[in-house]
Amino acid sequence: MDTDTKILVIGAGGQIGIELCEALNKIYGNENVIASDIKEIPALSENTFELLDVLDKDKLLSVIQKHRITDVYLLAALLSATAEKNASFAWRLNMDGLFNVLELAKEKIIQKVFWPSSIAVFGPSTPKQNTPQHTIMDPNTVYGISKLAGERWCEWYALKHNVDVRSIRYPGLIGWKSQPGGGTTDYAVHIFYEAIEKKHYTCFLKKDTMLPMMHIEDAVRATIELMQAPAEKISIRSSYNLAAISFTPDQLAQKIKQYIPEFKIDYQIDFRQSIADSWPQSIDDSYARKDWGWKHHYDLDKLVENMIVNIQKKIGK
Ligand code: SER
Repeated sequence: MDTDTKILVIGAGGQIGIELCEALNKIYGNENVIASDIKEIPALSENTFELLDVLDKDKLLSVIQKHRITDVYLLAALLSATAEKNASFAWRLNMDGLFNVLELAKEKIIQKVFWPSSIAVFGPSTPKQNTPQHTIMDPNTVYGISKLAGERWCEWYALKHNVDVRSIRYPGLIGWKSQPGGGTTDYAVHIFYEAIEKKHYTCFLKKDTMLPMMHIEDAVRATIELMQAPAEKISIRSSYNLAAISFTPDQLAQKIKQYIPEFKIDYQIDFRQSIADSWPQSIDDSYARKDWGWKHHYDLDKLVENMIVNIQKKIGK
């Protein structure tokens, strides 16, 4: 085990953070993984916890110095749907939070940074199938604009200031341990809970809306593999395309019906449809596969089985 690594996860109470902390604890030991968020997170009881708003630069520096942090995973952000409703705060949180962390890496107070980007960096003119790493990017959401700008800044800090920042463009993430909040792909988690609890789900996206998705265990493993890869293997310093599976709400509902035959889905489309319509349907992630050996483990069948079995257990159905 690498005992020199001391990790701070910022925004640890979110969908990715909770599972990432659990995985990091197993590798680095929970004494080397500090969790932080703007509120207490009971699920993170195994970790030392700090109340921290990433916009508070002084507190950020003091937490990092107090724990002799080497690596920061910056997960605090507003996601696509919430950001549309609170544009100026989303821009401030998503950008200034990133600057605060990148500046500490530039000063060599920390050694390594992980920052998540998203399929939201693509836009209506981007090729929708097998979207390449390098292509037209014209995001038309606040979230997507902030992620694309963030990617450009990551690359700039890497090239101009030798900052070791690494990033992934996550697709929609699906897991049973933690809930997403404020995203457009959230339906693909909520549908399982409603199917198990109510045998019914009203979807806010159209039945044929195809989006790139991934089991969160795969996403967390990718994150750690990218962070552990030797620096010379990292040819992309903006953010890596990453893919696993693509499906529509209708295709997901059909799979769920194999486990819960009485399950019914109906559709009430809202503003998130236009966000989804601006995003790719599938992603070419060959750089991640070639550079650091990325491979997904979960296909759609395995993902659905994993979600149903574990949520049933969790809520006692
Ligand atoms: N899953 C995110 C969202 O829907 C995209 O990164 O906002």
